[in-house]
Amino acid sequence: MPESADITRSEKLKQRLRFYEDLGLAPFYRDRGSSRSPQPPSPASSVVTPSHSIEEPPLPKSSLKPPAVPSPVAPAKAFLPLTPAPPSLFETANRNQSETLLQIRDDLGECTRCKLHTTRNKIVFGDGNPQAKLVFVGEGPGADEDAQGLPFVGRAGKLLTQMIEAMGLERRDVYICNVVKCRPPGNRQPEPDEVEACSPFLFRQLDSLQPKVIVCLGATAFQTLLQSNRSISHFRGQWLDFRGYKMLPTYHPAYLLRNPAAKANVWKDLQKVMAELGLEVKKTKAK
Ligand code: URA
Repeated sequence: MPESADITRSEKLKQRLRFYEDLGLAPFYRDRGSSRSPQPPSPASSVVTPSHSIEEPPLPKSSLKPPAVPSPVAPAKAFLPLTPAPPSLFETANRNQSETLLQIRDDLGECTRCKLHTTRNKIVFGDGNPQAKLVFVGEGPGADEDAQGLPFVGRAGKLLTQMIEAMGLERRDVYICNVVKCRPPGNRQPEPDEVEACSPFLFRQLDSLQPKVIVCLGATAFQTLLQSNRSISHFRGQWLDFRGYKMLPTYHPAYLLRNPAAKANVWKDLQKVMAELGLEVKKTKAK
């Protein structure tokens, strides 16, 4: 094997071990023989609210209009923690299961519904398994995604892939999409009119997928689905109801790149998701 391939492989392995260590996975931590003193993961209630981050800025009021797909769940009720109650008949009837992702993509076409089309290179519709039980919803494409037409393929995407793999899954097992399908210039937050134009396609994607669990990555995803302007810190790690789907907001991987200490909380959230999906949740000692 060429030496450079060895180096790449060992660098990848190191990155993976570093990631597991950050998550608080004790066995990996010990195997590395790191001399760093162990840090207990901070409790969810002590999350420090970042002054400015991808998940914090509330959406302006105008974005709080009802979604184009009518939701029978009143916004206030949407914040009630989930009970195991099944979706109401009305909620179920409102979902359009019969539409395929291909049909929705077709309907989106070469979209010009909002101003983002003027600066985009590629539409980033979504990627993954149409039968996925688990869907991750991000904010909107960045530069790498805009160039490739695929969601979460940049730095934040690599971290998301590691998170998925740490859950014992692969990217092809899940479905990944965004609130807006075109890159906001300079990676700014999508504006209310852009969210309003694009989110009906997200709702249709979710209804087509019928996932068991939706994980909202960051505030924009969670605020769009729940029609709320509350900070993600209030609801991170809590089971919520989105039109009968189980939904759990957690921090965006881009936030984790800037605040690695928050990874332990995200790992706790993902363990909840794993338990819900019947995936093996290994007992991991907090560092
Ligand atoms: N951030 C997002 O929210 N979505 C992507 O696809 C990439 C980065």
